[in-house]
Amino acid sequence: MKRVFSGVQPSGVLTLGNYLGALKNFVRVQAEHDCLFCVVDLHALTVPQDPLSLRGNVRRVAALFLASGIDPDRATIFVQSRVSAHAEMAWLLQCLTWFGELGRMTQFKEKSQGKETFSVGLFTYPTLMAADILLYDTNYVPVGEDQKQHLELTRDLAQRFNRRYGDLLVVPEPMIARVGARIMALDNPRAKMSKSSDTPDSYISMLDDPDTIAKKIRRAVTDSDNAIRYAPQEKPGVSNLMSILSLCSGRSLEQLEEDFAGKGYGQLKQAVAEAVIAELEPIQQRYRDIVNSNTLDEILDRGARRAQELAAATLYRVQQAMGL
Ligand code: TYM
Repeated sequence: MKRVFSGVQPSGVLTLGNYLGALKNFVRVQAEHDCLFCVVDLHALTVPQDPLSLRGNVRRVAALFLASGIDPDRATIFVQSRVSAHAEMAWLLQCLTWFGELGRMTQFKEKSQGKETFSVGLFTYPTLMAADILLYDTNYVPVGEDQKQHLELTRDLAQRFNRRYGDLLVVPEPMIARVGARIMALDNPRAKMSKSSDTPDSYISMLDDPDTIAKKIRRAVTDSDNAIRYAPQEKPGVSNLMSILSLCSGRSLEQLEEDFAGKGYGQLKQAVAEAVIAELEPIQQRYRDIVNSNTLDEILDRGARRAQELAAATLYRVQQAMGL
């Protein structure tokens, strides 16, 4: 069985982008692989967090994992800070990472741009992500498109380590879906849908109620030519709505072009809203049962125990090889 690892930051409530680009794929791959899904709270600390909100968000993200269909009897769900090997491994990898390499990370450049001060953690963030992945001998990492550069760095670091210290680390492969790997903001389809956006109309939260979802989709930016066709460069708004509908309805993009031939944007938006609501409503119901339950704590305890065991073995091997 191949090993899968992925992480999600608890830096706010999850969006439809997180769901379609990541969580929905986690559910799909858990049947075939040995999966670990992690709430990466240490990553969230790279920007200021209110401690109480952070604690609540960790719980909410873990509950959304379960509500989306991740089965704790198949996959391991855990919180990153419960496994101290992540921070230790990150340090070891930082000592193998070039300063210039981290300076070239586009996410770092975007997040630090225009800021007078930002933390060193924001700069070294990709080495912590590499540690997350490499600790578990991960073969595949299901992520959205925005994480591709971090995955390339992770592969470079694994290869660099192996050349210097012997073949100890598994070099992971990204798993990036053809459709849905980059869900765009509803009010600006040239920008990624993001939970850290200041305009709530730009994203759909996984916990938005049906009226809010329908309203946000009705207001989504499209274009003026009124043809329903998948062309991300030329028609980013319409293409984004089509990707969302394709993933929520199980119909291919080609099928959607056929189904909507001669129809208008109003009809497309109506169909998108209905499909998104149908996808999220059952998740929201399960979420409400799970988020305050003791079962959630038990699942996270169990997950942490398994992750600690796996991570400790890799960390030990790495420490030995490095002469510690
Ligand atoms: P994060 O928390 O920003 O996002 C979690 C996952 O959601 C995907 N995603 C999207 N996919 C499609 N369209 C969007 N608009 C969209 N927005 C987010 C992300 O690509 C990601 O898969 N650095 C990571 C967390 C992380 C991680 C890891 C991931 C830490 N360690 C190890 C994989 C493996 C991040 O900030 O994701």
